[in-house]
Amino acid sequence: HCLIHIILIFRVQATVKERNELDSKLCFHSSFAFGVATASFQIEGAWNVSGKGESIWDRYTHEHPERVFDHKNADVADGSYYKVKEDVQLLSQLGVNFYRFSISWPRILPDGLSNNVNEDGIRYYKELIEELRKNKITPVATMYHWDLPQSLQELGGWTNPIIADYFVDYARVLLDNFGDTVKVWLTFNEPLTFCENGYGGDDAPGGRSSGFEDYMCGHNVLRAHGMVYRMFDQKYRKITKGVMGITNVFPWIEPATTSREDQKAADAARQFMFGWYANPIFSQQGDYPQVMRKAVDANSKRQGFPRSRLPYFTAEEVEMIRGSFDFMGLNHYTTYLAAPGSGKISTKPSYQDDINAIITQKDEWPKSNSTWLRVVPWGFRRCLNWIKNAYNNPKILITENGVSFEAGLHDTKRVNYIDAYLRALHAAIYKDGCHVLGYTYWSLMDNFEWMRGYSERFGLYQVDYESQNLTRTPRLSAKYFSNVAKTGCLPD
Ligand code: NOJ
Repeated sequence: HCLIHIILIFRVQATVKERNELDSKLCFHSSFAFGVATASFQIEGAWNVSGKGESIWDRYTHEHPERVFDHKNADVADGSYYKVKEDVQLLSQLGVNFYRFSISWPRILPDGLSNNVNEDGIRYYKELIEELRKNKITPVATMYHWDLPQSLQELGGWTNPIIADYFVDYARVLLDNFGDTVKVWLTFNEPLTFCENGYGGDDAPGGRSSGFEDYMCGHNVLRAHGMVYRMFDQKYRKITKGVMGITNVFPWIEPATTSREDQKAADAARQFMFGWYANPIFSQQGDYPQVMRKAVDANSKRQGFPRSRLPYFTAEEVEMIRGSFDFMGLNHYTTYLAAPGSGKISTKPSYQDDINAIITQKDEWPKSNSTWLRVVPWGFRRCLNWIKNAYNNPKILITENGVSFEAGLHDTKRVNYIDAYLRALHAAIYKDGCHVLGYTYWSLMDNFEWMRGYSERFGLYQVDYESQNLTRTPRLSAKYFSNVAKTGCLPD
């Protein structure tokens, strides 16, 4: 009944779709939802306004401007903090069913260490949610999209187990304040990315990276997710009638050749990059994937550590985390090839050595403006089928899919990307039986792309950063996507 419930949530506010009944048209079922996404740090700006506290990304971009590609920060970003009405109008013009946004933890609890709620932060998100509802757009809220209060980082951030308790406190404030109006929740966005970039290297703010911290981060994120889901399930579900999931990123990983070795390498890479966060929650047995457990335990031993660098869950934790979802949030952008690594362990223990695979992309796959992102639509379909088989065909919400290209309004390459990926998705649903509830394009508009600053543009709307009022202008892709969202069908 949960599925029906989720469908209802999207349907209640769904615009009536006019359908072209021609057989030749590829259409999605009428309850299939279309949306777009953003994240607080990437669009809001107003970094120190009206009581907002400092986040780790504020600190990092201020202290290390040279590490950001264009040396810029998100102090102003898209100015969305001041543009609630304007931004919701963009959504309304697109005709999307839902809007996935994230809530800034330090805007709600400026000093992460105390429970002093910033009323203006609450006011801001209430206004946004209200405006969405007035325009019949379902709010989908992410609790954590990487902007941790700086004060919590000073305690070790995600490596300190106590962070899970702080996350529960924060989630409680959100559910108390927004639980009556927000029915679709995501606890975390892409733990793999913020744990690896922040605690496995210095591609993002975080802590030490010695081959231990990224796994500690992941461990605490999984615990925190499980704890918040259980709280939600026990105390809020009945009152709020909402649903909760978590968003993981899963690029498809194809064996470089059909050889047995390459297949093994690809499987290991999938388990490390996706199974790490998916297996404990979505698999029957719970806990980390076997392949990962074995590899990290063995490597830790070879490195002379008395304990595995990958922490162990208690039996209670396995239970708590297993099944802690109503649906699976999935971000998918691209595809990689895998071949076996050298098996060597470098002097510095690392996740990369543990995976022990060489990850590449094919030169002939079309490029985007992001080094890591090539256009490989068929990988989307394989990815969805893999999940279907590995985790008993869970209900999936595509929480992100998108592409960066150079600035410009006539973005035919983006139109082609979306169209090709939607065709692959259509096949995964209607030919293969994958259980997908909806699709989210990343992003509504150009925004601060983390370490890449404003140099990578993913928006359906172009943002003019030179203009005084940060003008948003629809690209060709906005027109394309709006047509798909309104009709539920792909054009011929
Ligand atoms: C993943 C992240 O969730 C989002 O913040 C980012 O901008 C996009 N992918 C594009 O890289």
